[in-house]
Order: sequence, then C-alpha cells, then structure tokens
Amino acid sequence: MSTTNTLTRRIPAARIQFLPEDRAWIAARIEEVLSTGMLTLGNYGKEFETRFAALCGVKHAVSVNSGTSALEIALRALGVERKDVIVPANTFFATAAAVVHAGGVPVLVDMDPESFAIRPEDIEPELTPNTAGIVVVHVGGLVSARLPDLQDFARRKGLWLVEDAAHAHGASYKGMMAGAFGVAAAFSMYPTKVMTSAEGGMLVTNDDRVAEEARIFRDQGKASFLVNAHTRMGYNWRMSEPHAIIGLKHLERLPAMIEDRRRVAALYDEALARFTSLRALKVPPGGLSNYYKYIAVMEPARDRKQLKAALREQFGVSLSGEVYEDPLHKQPVFERYARGPLPVAEDLCARHICLPLYSGMEDDEARQVIDALAAVFE
Ligand SMILES: Cc1ncc(COP(=O)(O)O)c(C=O)c1O
Repeated sequence: MSTTNTLTRRIPAARIQFLPEDRAWIAARIEEVLSTGMLTLGNYGKEFETRFAALCGVKHAVSVNSGTSALEIALRALGVERKDVIVPANTFFATAAAVVHAGGVPVLVDMDPESFAIRPEDIEPELTPNTAGIVVVHVGGLVSARLPDLQDFARRKGLWLVEDAAHAHGASYKGMMAGAFGVAAAFSMYPTKVMTSAEGGMLVTNDDRVAEEARIFRDQGKASFLVNAHTRMGYNWRMSEPHAIIGLKHLERLPAMIEDRRRVAALYDEALARFTSLRALKVPPGGLSNYYKYIAVMEPARDRKQLKAALREQFGVSLSGEVYEDPLHKQPVFERYARGPLPVAEDLCARHICLPLYSGMEDDEARQVIDALAAVFE
C-alpha cells in the first residue's frame, strides 16, 4: 500500500469530459443556430432523437429538457391520475416526484440486494386493484438480471412497466438495451451522467401512441407545432437546439466513454476481489453496465461520513454520491408513501459507497483510489 501521492493529486468524485475538438464542433454548430435563429425543436433535436432511438433499439425518441420531464411525460401519457404506481425506495427524488406531479400515488417498495433494483417479489405484496404500473430504475447503470422476470410479471398482472433509465445510457442485459424493456423509458442528460447535453432528457418508446402523446405534452399540450389547439395539460418541456448539439456530440462519444469506464471498473473489480470488508456489486452474466456508478457494499457497516472525510483529507480521494444516501421514505415529503418498513433499502442505502469513476480517468488515478481504500478498509 502506498500513500506517496497523498494530497499531491486529488481524485474528484466526477469529471465531465469534452475533448477540445468536440468543444470546437459544438461551438461551430451553436454559432450556426444562433445565426439562423433555429434555436428550439429543430434539425439537431431531430437528429439527436433518431440517433438516440437507434442506440436503444427502439422506434421513437422524444427529446425534452430533463430526465424528470421525460418521466412525468411518460406517466402522463400512460395516465396515472389517482392511481398507485410502484416505485423503488432507493431512487432519486425525481422518480417518485414525477408520479406525484402526474397525479398518481407512489408506492415505495424494497430492493434487491444483488442488483439494487426491484423484483417481482418486492412488488407483489403491494399490489391492489388501484395499481397502474411499475417504474424500475437501472441503479448505477446496471440492468438487473431480473428485468425479464419483471416484464413477465407486469404482463401477467396487466400493469405497464416504465424504465427510469436516467443512469443507464448504453447499458444492456443479454443484448437488450436499457430503454427497450418497458413501454417507455426516461433518460437524463444531466452533466454528471455518463453522457450529457448540459441539461436535458430523452423519452424512448416503441409505442406510437406514447410517442405522439409525448410530442404533444412537451410543447404546452399543443396538438401540433403549428396548430394552437391545446389538447393536453402539457408544459414547456422542450429541448433547445444548443442542448441537442451538445448531446449529439456526447452520444457519438458514448461507446468510447463507456469503454473508458469499463477499463477503470475492471481495475476496481480486480482489487476489490481481494478485500474482505468491501464487496463490489456484480454485473450479472450477459449484462453490460455503463458504470455510471461503481457500487461497493461495506461488510460490516462503517460510518460513511467519517470514511469519506478520511479518504478526502488523508488520500485526496473524493467518493461519488450514493445511490442513495437515504431511501425515499426517509425523505420528509415521501414519508407517507411507504406502507411499512423497507429493511433492505434502509440497510443498503447506509452501507454502500460509490467509487470515483469518469471517462478520461487514468489507471494511476484508479490505483490511488485502490491504495486509499486498502489503507482504510483492510
Ligand atoms: C434515478 C433518476 N431519476 C431521474 C433523474 C432526473 O433527471 P434530471 O436531473 O435530468 O431531471 C435522475 C437525475 O439525477 C436520476 O438519478
């Protein structure tokens, strides 16, 4: 174990990479749309949609201004007013908030310790005649091996399945891409995600009706771009052309950026296999994670705040944000949506860490993280 680099180099929790030639490409196209005035719902947005749909292997993609909007639009298109919607407890605020904003009631359920996702057995006890559907989250960019079971379960119960794929650009399980498992999926293009459009989101679907509804909802509920009849209670959820231009370039870089993350993840895998008190979350056989997060579970539990401070102050290593620090039923606004204790989520939310991981991360930086972890854990 070596701490020679201590404080000579800081490893950030995340780093957003735009190569110089990509910045120049983006700047030239933003100059172009500024000069033409085609600043929203234009050709770059359309191209971004076409290419993103191709990535996911689905028929339609509808670009919007955030992952949160994409989720809310999917839920509005499916109709959740006064209906119950199954949502994992270990997710970001926006997953459950989108259900509330669309007029539904989130029902928070416990999680699978193997994948951090939800399984049919977590959901079954919570079903009622008022349940409309299920939102599954590909936590950390890992598609659970239980997704085919979840699809089958939803079909048998007459429920729809929506993917919150905010973390999962380019991830897959047995050849099926994240975004292609549910009736609709929502991706986030927030800066810290595996790819970004600065801000933005994408709704993807194979369902012609959902796609059509999404285009209406994102533009103030207008029946079409040129017609002033408002047929849905929509909103301004549009993506601007400058955002689409940034997203297009990052989408082109996505395979290389994921490759880079996988290289670092492989170093972490190899090192953590020798640890006795830190267990890496396993990608299932047939799965390809995009490693939005590299998740590791502490066995036994440690004080995470203290641990993070020690790694930062003594070794210059900043851990990435958790998925998630607290389950949603511990958040004041969502307390009332859990129907009982959710012990797995409560335990694992407190007991995991996320290692720093970003495209462009060097092997030496990963080794500094591994040395620091070895010093504090082993
Ligand atoms: C699981 C999950 N769902 C939804 C969102 C919302 O995406 P956005 O920030 O683009 O609105 C995020 C973003 O951080 C997320 O992590």
